[in-house]
Amino acid sequence: MSGDSASRSRRATAQQLSSLRAAGVTRIASRSRKSGQTSSDTKSVPAPDATAATACSRSASLFNAPQSTMPRAEREEKLRILSARVAQCVRCAELSATRTQTVFGVGNPEARIMFVGEAPGADEDRQGEPFVGAAGQLLNRILEASQLKRAEIYICNILRCRPPGNRTPALEEAANCREYLDGQIEIVDPEYIVCLGSVAAKNLLGSMDSIGKLRGRFFNYGRAKVLCTYHPAYLLRNPAAKKDVWGDMKFLMHDLGVEL
Ligand code: URA
Repeated sequence: MSGDSASRSRRATAQQLSSLRAAGVTRIASRSRKSGQTSSDTKSVPAPDATAATACSRSASLFNAPQSTMPRAEREEKLRILSARVAQCVRCAELSATRTQTVFGVGNPEARIMFVGEAPGADEDRQGEPFVGAAGQLLNRILEASQLKRAEIYICNILRCRPPGNRTPALEEAANCREYLDGQIEIVDPEYIVCLGSVAAKNLLGSMDSIGKLRGRFFNYGRAKVLCTYHPAYLLRNPAAKKDVWGDMKFLMHDLGVEL
């Protein structure tokens, strides 16, 4: 790594850490999948907003956010404005020069659950929508089995541009795109964020832990409970891990009051 890129990477990490602190990222206790009880071997850190952790017990439609008061039309307008800014973005020289178009995000602006992937691939770059390729088809099947529809949830990525050759996003690229991700999270204000794969999990939570270690418990990111699971593209290569993702979806839906 050159001196320049090392210092850019240090700046990106520092920016990420301060945005994580601002968002109040904390780990909250793991729960037993069977009983929903807090496990005694995990340190419990109170959520910054303790009321958010019980939001699913409020009476509200299962798939529209009960915790935010922003009208739907206002959210749509804010997302439209942010998406127009993203379309003009040239913060990452290589990505903006090589993309066909930016891939902002899709779905319900009032979603209770937001799914965050890694970055657009070739199909997404062509169509301008996240998760429309082979991994997206598998995600659709996971959603369907979990009694969720794409239109009910919100889907976006850590990056809004395709990295050439689908390489792993650089830390600096994720830091450049973080304002847009945080903007989407603030507008949609989901109760749950599901990180698909280690790039999403590590970047959102600022963790060095493997996805295997991050699974199976909730973290907090601002007002949202965060669950990490394997990326559908990983499942295409390792079908044996599908049962783990199914367990994660059952854990999530149980917290929402739905038994799968
Ligand atoms: N993989 C991702 O992480 N995101 C997409 O949008 C598509 C594939």
